[in-house]
Amino acid sequence: MADNTTIDSLLHEERRFPPSDEFVAHRVATPELYEQARADRLGFWAEQAKTLLHWHTPFTEVLDWSNAPFARWFGDGRINVSYNCLDRHVLEGRGDRVALLFEGEPGDERSLTYAELTAEVKKAANMLATLGVTEGDRVVIYMPQIPEAIIAMLAVARLGAIHSVVFGGFSAESLRARIDDADAKLVITADGGYRKGKVFPLKPAVDEAIADGGTAVKNVVVVKRGGNDVTWVDGRDVWWEEEIATMSDEHTAEAFDPENPLFILYTSGTTGNPKGIIHSSGGYLTGAAYTHKNVFDLKPETDVYWCTADVGWITGHSYVVYGPLANGATQVIYEGTPDAPQPGRWWDIIEKYGVTIFYTAPTAIRGFMKAGREIPQARDLSSLRLLGTVGEPINPEAWMWYREVIGGNRCPIVDTWWQTETGAIMVSALPGITHTKPGSAQVPLPGISIDVLSEDGVHVGAEAGGLLVVTEPWPSMLRGIWGDPDRFVETYWAKFGDKYFAGDGAHLDADGDVWLLGRVDDVMNVSGHRLSTMEIESALVAHEMTAEAAVIGADDDTTGQAVVAFVILKARHQKDMSEEEAAAELRSWVSKQIGAIARPRDIHIVNELPKTRSGKIMRRLLRDIAEGRALGDTTTLTDTNVIDVISQAMLSGGDD
Ligand code: WT7
Repeated sequence: MADNTTIDSLLHEERRFPPSDEFVAHRVATPELYEQARADRLGFWAEQAKTLLHWHTPFTEVLDWSNAPFARWFGDGRINVSYNCLDRHVLEGRGDRVALLFEGEPGDERSLTYAELTAEVKKAANMLATLGVTEGDRVVIYMPQIPEAIIAMLAVARLGAIHSVVFGGFSAESLRARIDDADAKLVITADGGYRKGKVFPLKPAVDEAIADGGTAVKNVVVVKRGGNDVTWVDGRDVWWEEEIATMSDEHTAEAFDPENPLFILYTSGTTGNPKGIIHSSGGYLTGAAYTHKNVFDLKPETDVYWCTADVGWITGHSYVVYGPLANGATQVIYEGTPDAPQPGRWWDIIEKYGVTIFYTAPTAIRGFMKAGREIPQARDLSSLRLLGTVGEPINPEAWMWYREVIGGNRCPIVDTWWQTETGAIMVSALPGITHTKPGSAQVPLPGISIDVLSEDGVHVGAEAGGLLVVTEPWPSMLRGIWGDPDRFVETYWAKFGDKYFAGDGAHLDADGDVWLLGRVDDVMNVSGHRLSTMEIESALVAHEMTAEAAVIGADDDTTGQAVVAFVILKARHQKDMSEEEAAAELRSWVSKQIGAIARPRDIHIVNELPKTRSGKIMRRLLRDIAEGRALGDTTTLTDTNVIDVISQAMLSGGDD
């Protein structure tokens, strides 16, 4: 959480940016949306679901909240998500519109129209059906950012099965835990993908994850992308291309219960094991399509949209796959990193494809600020008309840079607050309506009701801070945690009864605008990715050298927060290697256990951890040390005596 001085200066933000007359004249979202939603919230959502989606059987029931917090939306209708993202565009004459403009990291290109994408998904659905996938089965997808990842997701959805996409940066261990928890019977992967100029292999992690035969996985489907060698298990592994080549491109989408889970996506919580967030079909798609259209001012006939998120995260699910495709958008997808092979790669892509709507994370923006404005300024970015940001609070300085250097002072910026659990954007400016304010996510979308409450559940009022809650159910809300209904109730609904507790601190300013202040639990936000302090601590403690470990998220100029660990080595290992060597060993261990995103930026080897009298680790103190606040002298950071001194002082002091 930002400290009080930062909050004060943020909240005195005087700058406002109204949309241009030109933008207003052609805006998609109009102020009436707010009025309609306020007058009849459920009627409003029913209207969105009906106008944005095709229902095989129309619903008559909007919301059943009688079994709260387990919601049913549009429960007596029937829908097929894949049909909504594909077939209906073709049947309604949009088959020749480009759906995907793919750019591989090595520079290869591929474009797929809606007709072509539909045919590919039908073939893939036939392949999966041949492999025995049916309604309700779980399929894990572990892939690079290539069209087949999207095709795989839509093929699984088409069969009424449930996908669980695991980000390609996660380790074999993390993959195994997710395969196990979801009891998946099939894994779709690739030989490898391109990243930073090299092929990174994916199949070895799958092989390792299921090697012992202890999972429910029957088959592994492998897409050829990296061209790297793979080991092969006959009878279990099949090449995607070989199977697809024999499949028909005819496949009739069956209609399913809109409450059927569409996917499970694992995310970090406060305790060690990640939770499998369950999303529905009909309600989720309504939320994704509605927000994508209105927040991004989408004109599908003319816009070229680009969201830089990987499909392994919720942003990729809602704003690369389901929202844009349900709305018939044309979008860019890019496989690689922003700086490969040179730091202007993203701006080259915007220029090359004429991107009009661009959605990315504050971390990326801060990284580009560091690299210098000459790089984007050497490209023609005049096609851009709208910019979005997501994943973590954006500091006003980065917001202003984004507006000026990338948006040429003409593009509205939407700072979108939401979570894996909310499925879709909840708090954001609407680009042709809201007068934007640097650093604030601003207002709940029409149909969404939020509040900021004190610990004891009282509305905090203007110019005060508290906890962000959602006060009314919404269509794309999570439906539960896979296999753990109690944890679902406990985590999100126990604190404030029938209100959804988001886990974020928030402040309402004098205008009633919302400022997000970061997580209030043991969840870190590193480069817009969620990590659990406990999960990393567990990984560290699982190493034979480690006696005890404490992990905190420390402020970082580029990544927002960074993982910093304090580790006590077991006495018998203290002489084995230098502190630097031990730290290096543990950093790569965490990377192997969880994935490179969790690798600590710093590991301090210490003799003791500061604890309260009741034995609780004083994380706030560790954060002060890691951020260089405590004791005034950062050069003593790695001096283990500092920790000793702190802990001694605390033993005689009060609680955390
Ligand atoms: C957490 C959710 C939702 C997509 C990506 C992250 C933080 C997200 C913002 C924003 C301030 C934000 C919150 C939230 N967050 N967007 N615009 N301003 N904070 O999804 O991994 O589920 O993480 O990201 O702390 O709780 P996620």
